[in-house]
Amino acid sequence: MKPYVILSAAMTLDGKIATETGSSNISGKKDLERVHELRKECDAIMVGIGTVLADDPRLTVHKIDADPEDNPIRVVVDSKCRTPIAARITNKDAKTFIAGANEYKYDFLVSDRYDVFSKRGVKFFWSGDKRVDLVALMNYLHEEGIRKLMLEGGATLNFSMIKAGLIDEIRLCVAPMVAGGANAKTLFDGEGFPLMDLAVRLELVDSYSLDKDLILTYKVLK
Ligand SMILES: NC(=O)c1ccc[n+]([C@@H]2O[C@H](COP(=O)([O-])OP(=O)(O)OC[C@H]3O[C@@H](n4cnc5c(N)ncnc54)[C@H](OP(=O)(O)O)[C@@H]3O)[C@@H](O)[C@H]2O)c1
Repeated sequence: MKPYVILSAAMTLDGKIATETGSSNISGKKDLERVHELRKECDAIMVGIGTVLADDPRLTVHKIDADPEDNPIRVVVDSKCRTPIAARITNKDAKTFIAGANEYKYDFLVSDRYDVFSKRGVKFFWSGDKRVDLVALMNYLHEEGIRKLMLEGGATLNFSMIKAGLIDEIRLCVAPMVAGGANAKTLFDGEGFPLMDLAVRLELVDSYSLDKDLILTYKVLK
């Protein structure tokens, strides 16, 4: 069993979710409000450690009227438990889960960092050898009562999730901007599929303009 997974992202017309230097200010004001409405509707919100290190996000609901209980549980996919002590994602505004890989578990459990995070109420889930097993993680989150999960990137985690068949829906903001750059992160990076015949197929189910942005909703065909 797994939660229903909605990938949410903002990208430029050329598919970039950040520039090479890590700048990722893409959505307009109204789109940010739309994304925070979606956060409010979800039980949990998940990102990869790359996004935590690049952006230090809070992943709370703060662009719209909201109560503290509207904040979803935050999940970091972080095999080596590199989440910094000062990372805002581990603050007391909401619950946080860190998903690590078994090879790094013991060293982490005997470290001071484990004590600091535990005192803050951060929970840990271990799976996979050197990298988090995403299927096992989804199963665990479902057992924890999470039925609707928002995936907020980044490029590497997005690809692993879609390749594993774990994404059900994609909600995209396409901003009228072109960033370029062969090394700039795209919506899906990872190793990619070798043949277009293997590409994941989608069905467009909704599209509308929001100020200057274009909002697209796709179902992932299985
Ligand atoms: N515009 C947007 O909507 C948006 C949204 C989010 C992020 N971003 C941008 O995306 C960029 C970050 O993307 P990123 O690709 O560098 O990092 P990422 O996808 O956030 O995190 C990738 C990391 O997750 C860890 N991981 C653990 N298990 C994994 C698994 N099974 N599959 C895949 N990854 C796994 C890996 O590190 P370990 O091996 O150490 O665990 C991996 O390097 C930032 O620049 C950020 O600004 C943009």
